[in-house]
Formats: sequence, structure tokens, C-alpha cells
Amino acid sequence: MKTKFYLTTPMYYVNDLPHLGHAYSTIAADAIARFERLRGKQVFLLTGTDEHGQKIANKAAEEGQEVKAFCDRISSDFRTSWDELGIRYDRFSRTTSDDHKRTVKWFFDRVYSKGDIYKASYSGWYCVSCERFYQEKELLEEKKCPDHKRPVQWMEEENYFFRLSNYQNALLRQIEENPGFIQPEVRKNEVLNIIREGLEDISISRASLKWGIPLPIDPNQVIYVWFDALISYLSGIEFDAQGELSRYWPAELHVVGKEIVRFHTIIWPAMLMSAELPLPGKVFGHGWLTVNGEKMSKTTGNVIKPLELAQELGIDGMRYYLLREIPFGKDGDYSKETAVTRLNADLANNLGNLLNRTLVMTEKYFDGKVPLVAPKALATDRELCDYFGGNRIPERVEELMEGMEIHAALAEMLNFVDRANKFIDSKAPWQLAKEGQAARLAEVMYSLLESLRLVTVMISPFIPKTAEKMWQQLGFAGSVETSSWADLAWGGLVPGQTLKRGEPIFLRIGEELAGAGKKKK
Ligand code: MSP
Repeated sequence: MKTKFYLTTPMYYVNDLPHLGHAYSTIAADAIARFERLRGKQVFLLTGTDEHGQKIANKAAEEGQEVKAFCDRISSDFRTSWDELGIRYDRFSRTTSDDHKRTVKWFFDRVYSKGDIYKASYSGWYCVSCERFYQEKELLEEKKCPDHKRPVQWMEEENYFFRLSNYQNALLRQIEENPGFIQPEVRKNEVLNIIREGLEDISISRASLKWGIPLPIDPNQVIYVWFDALISYLSGIEFDAQGELSRYWPAELHVVGKEIVRFHTIIWPAMLMSAELPLPGKVFGHGWLTVNGEKMSKTTGNVIKPLELAQELGIDGMRYYLLREIPFGKDGDYSKETAVTRLNADLANNLGNLLNRTLVMTEKYFDGKVPLVAPKALATDRELCDYFGGNRIPERVEELMEGMEIHAALAEMLNFVDRANKFIDSKAPWQLAKEGQAARLAEVMYSLLESLRLVTVMISPFIPKTAEKMWQQLGFAGSVETSSWADLAWGGLVPGQTLKRGEPIFLRIGEELAGAGKKKK
């Protein structure tokens, strides 16, 4: 049986339409999912929407819409956006679905029967945008939330509590014994500090709110939105509420933004421990997309719409920019100028040019067919083959991906492309043709075509549509998705295959786009 790989994006709040920050989490998860699929794993990618809680109820009221209808509208917008961006999710889950509600009840019952839920009164500062309580010392001046910079509100209620404090030591042990559990390191240290300061029990119900899943033991209260939403990771994989764990659980990876790492690495594992379920393998907290240093968010009013940007840069252009330009785990300041420069340099000039030059020359010198070459051992021109093997490129890419360094994995591939372009310049196939050196010429062209095949397979999880076009142009029948990581050995390209040169795979983007907003002379 194939090794499984279950990964999730966060469940997005439906208080607003998707922006580029949301698309970033989803695109990164999609690229990782495709990469693991290429490696032969049985992958399940879950995404979806988080629809309960005060924030959503308020927003629906503001818009004058019945709350469920409001959720339907925004949730469907997320789903359509992911579809239009070509995200290959296995399930789009909603916290308002019946199967989710059933799983939440099942989960709650386990935690309750463990004795980890009790009733008490609570008061504290609550940020509706974060849907969490803050300690007074964490707040900015004028009692504002440090993340949203909006005033928090004082809440006093009789609530049900989860004994988070019971799990303090077990959580510390989990993090210390599993060094890869929280990544990157900086997030792990933050979480360790929070836990070491001491964990308090958390309120997991609301008395004053109607929009939520009723508490099984007290229908006058609804379940706290985070307690509810985290359980999506179970309900989303057809988790059998009779107690049978889905084959996919536990998740190998939760991809989340850095601001919600603590929910995923403190509350969520403690909930799972209480319910006596296995813990996820890894929680990765990526950085924020910022605009002029400020987090992209509806509140700040600096959002970029992913579908609009995809129209300008192309879907793969947008994917490539986000994944290559921003070191995964760090914040990245969005700039169209940087995006255009990056795409023109890497995809148009480097990758696109390599494909185009190679295909044109193969048409000219070999009638558009992969030339026949002597066995590898006898070849004179082994430069690219040696570079590929000597630098262990596929292994390097795997190591980098396992270390969640997506940007560096892409850099590794593009360096190889660059090397192949330089190989053309130094070997000057036109010169070999002029001198009638047919065997040398065949070796050079084969090396280039073979390098392109290898790059196409490796890069396909990141820019899938472009890789598909490259695959067709290299003359393969069917989809690049039928290939696998095991095909990444030099010499797989079969002589005689007829190439099908087509449109350039990536056109240079006009400089006027880069300078959008600047006046042109
Ligand atoms: N509903 C919760 C998650 C529950 S998971 C069980 C939530 N939703 S959210 O819609 O506010 O944010 C979801 C994710 O969107 C964040 O974790 C983050 O991954 C992403 N981003 C939102 N704004 C972002 C940026 N400006 N930059 C990068 N990602 C950001 O939190």
C-alpha cells in the first residue's frame, strides 16, 4: 500500500472574500501535496471554511443577510477561487456541514467523559477578529488587539472550560521529543515560551452567542469557534464518528499562518490528547504577505485579489512568485515590480528560453526528433549529466522540501536550467553543425532535451500548467502527472520521440505592469 500523506490548509473565516494571503497558504499546501503525490504518496489535501463565531455573525448582520446564506455565499467564493486557481484539494470542508457537526459532538463527548470539561464564570478581554481572549498585558494602548489593532471587548460569562492546564507537561514533552513538530524554529521557541509561562484552562463555549454548534451538554451555549474549527481536520477526512480512525489520521502536516500556530500546537494537541487520538506530525507556520511592511488584511485595506493578480501574472506566474520569492516561513513584502522581475528572469528568460532554443535547434538539426546518442559511458559531452548527478539534484530538492524550504528547492532547479543555458552558449551547437560534427551535436542536443525532461518533472508541482505545456512540447503523450520522482534518472528520454514545439511557455511580462502606479513618460 502507498504511504499516505495527509495535509491541511487553515479553514478560512468567511467574514471576507479570499485575498492573496489566504491564497498563499493554499498554494503552498497545493504545491507540497503535488510534490508528495509525484513522490508516489497517497495524498489527501483538505481545505475549507470556518463559518461559526461572533465575527461571522456580526459580519452577516452588517451586510443585512441571514447568517447561513451569508456563509454559503462567501464559502462558495473561496471554493470557486481555489478551483479557478487550479488548487487540487481532495475535500473542501465547511464547519456548518452536518458531518462536521456530528464529529464535533463525538469529539466533545470524548473530552467530556475524560473529565476535562467543567463550568465556571469567566471574564476577560476578547478580540472578535481573532476570536480569542487576551491578557491585559498583551494589549496595545487603548486596549487594542496587537494583531488587528482594533479595540477588544470585555466579556463576562458563565462558560464551559477545557482543562488545558492538565496538558502542560505532556505538550512540553511532545515538542521536545519531536523536534520537527513545530516549524520553523522561531515559532517553536515562541510556543515553548508560552507553555513554560504556564497554561490556563480555556473557555470553550459562549453563552451570549447563537451562531455555533450547540454544546451537547447545555444547548443554551454554543461551542467556541476554535474548538469547533480545529475538529475540521478530523471531520474533513470522513472521520468515522463511531470511533474508527480514518486511515488518513493523523495528519502529516498542518500548513498555517504564523499567527495561528499557537492554536495548532497548544490547544489542538491538548484536545487530541484529551480525546486520546494521535497527534499530527508537523505544524508549519508560514510568514505573512505584507504590503509596505503591513500585514495584508481586509482591516488594513491593502488586500490583493488573487484572481486579479493571476490574470496579470498567469496562475503559474503567481504561484512561482509566491513560492520562489518569499522564503517559506518568513514574511514577504508584496511588490508587483519584484514579481515581474522575478518571472521575466526565471520563467521567460531562463526556463522558457531554454525550452525554445532547444526545440528550435532540434527541429533544425534533427528534424524535430530526439537524436540518437551513444551509450552514456561513451559520451563526450557529459557535462549536464555530471552536473545533475554530481549535485544530486533530485535528492537535494527532496531534502529541501522535507525541510520546508520551497524557495530553495526552486532555486536549485533554476540553477540547473541556468547551467543548461550556459551549456548551449559554450557548446555552440550551430558551430558543431557547421563543422559537420554530427555525433557531438547529437550528444549536446540530447543532453539539453534530457535536462528539460528532468526539470519539467521536478518543477511540475510548483507550476503545473506550465510543466504540462513543456511536457507536450517535449513530445510526450499524456500528462506529466503520470510521471514520478523515480523517473528522475539521467537517460530516460527515448531517442526518436517527436517534439511538438508550440507557443512560448512563458511570455515576458510588460515592464508597464511592473511599474503600475508609476507615471510613464
Ligand atoms: N479560521 C481561522 C483558522 C482556523 S483553522 C482550524 C483563521 N482564518 S483566517 O481566514 O483568518 O486566516 C487563515 C489563514 O490565512 C492564516 O492562517 C494565514 O495562513 C492566511 N493569511 C491571512 N492573511 C495573511 C497574510 N497577509 N499573509 C499570509 N497569510 C495570511 O485564522
